[in-house]
Amino acid sequence: MAEFNLPKNSVVGTGKTFPAPTDATKVKSFRIYRWDPDDGENPRTDTYDIDLDKCGPMVLDALIKIKNEIDTTLTFRRSCREGICGSCAMNIDGLNTLACLKPIEDVKGDVKISPLPHMPVVKDLVPDLSQIYAQLRSIEPWLKSDTAPPPDHERLQSKEERAKLDGLWECILCFCCTTSCPSYWWNGDRYLGPAVLLQAYRWIADSRDDHTGERLDNLEDPFRLYRCHTIMNCARTCPKGLNPAQAIGQIKQMMVERQV
Ligand code: SF4
Ligand code: SF4
Ligand code: FES
Repeated sequence: MAEFNLPKNSVVGTGKTFPAPTDATKVKSFRIYRWDPDDGENPRTDTYDIDLDKCGPMVLDALIKIKNEIDTTLTFRRSCREGICGSCAMNIDGLNTLACLKPIEDVKGDVKISPLPHMPVVKDLVPDLSQIYAQLRSIEPWLKSDTAPPPDHERLQSKEERAKLDGLWECILCFCCTTSCPSYWWNGDRYLGPAVLLQAYRWIADSRDDHTGERLDNLEDPFRLYRCHTIMNCARTCPKGLNPAQAIGQIKQMMVERQV
């Protein structure tokens, strides 16, 4: 299991401890990264002792319980609570994953939680994803066709053409992979990273798209694509079981094939 560094702005001090109620029967400690841009303080780790007999089974359940019942200042993103929206991505017990899909009982000892690593932090567990979204926009993640759609039905694909999108369309843009990628940590301003490259390949591989050559031209760059060194952290960490490194390999293969 890969261990990842804490975020860039973290010389993390010891923070407050919130003890469990005296009648708690099954106590687990959650050690959570805290940083507020408005209080002028350094980041710290606060500890919340939770009675698991009065909490749902997932790490996100514990975070929601803390925010609702113990400390309303704790800030994190979440929406769907079922692994669909990608917004609860964070580093739990050293691995980037989705808090709503991570069972508390899978973590031995204290549950250590920090934001996705090597990203600027907006507040507490909320990373600033502006750069990644700008990179996503740059690969134009939408269908680009030169023909009008049929007037009476949608654009069709054969079963084989559709199957090429399996392992790609399931991506929920949580960016667990990109923020676990050492190449992205060091060159994130120029390297697109695994999530965006998987999205790029999703449109390159789509039989209904007419702009494959232009899409490949857009990636033909020593940094945008070729900073992937097949370290494979991305595939190991993806909470949806996808393999961005394989998609990146397919793009590189197409680059070679179009030169011969
Ligand atoms: S395989 Fe490529 S994209 Fe995936 S973690 Fe390694 S360098 Fe990053
Ligand atoms: S490939 Fe996996 S880890 Fe990466 S953004 Fe998509 S769902 Fe998240
Ligand atoms: S809350 Fe939507 S993926 Fe976790």
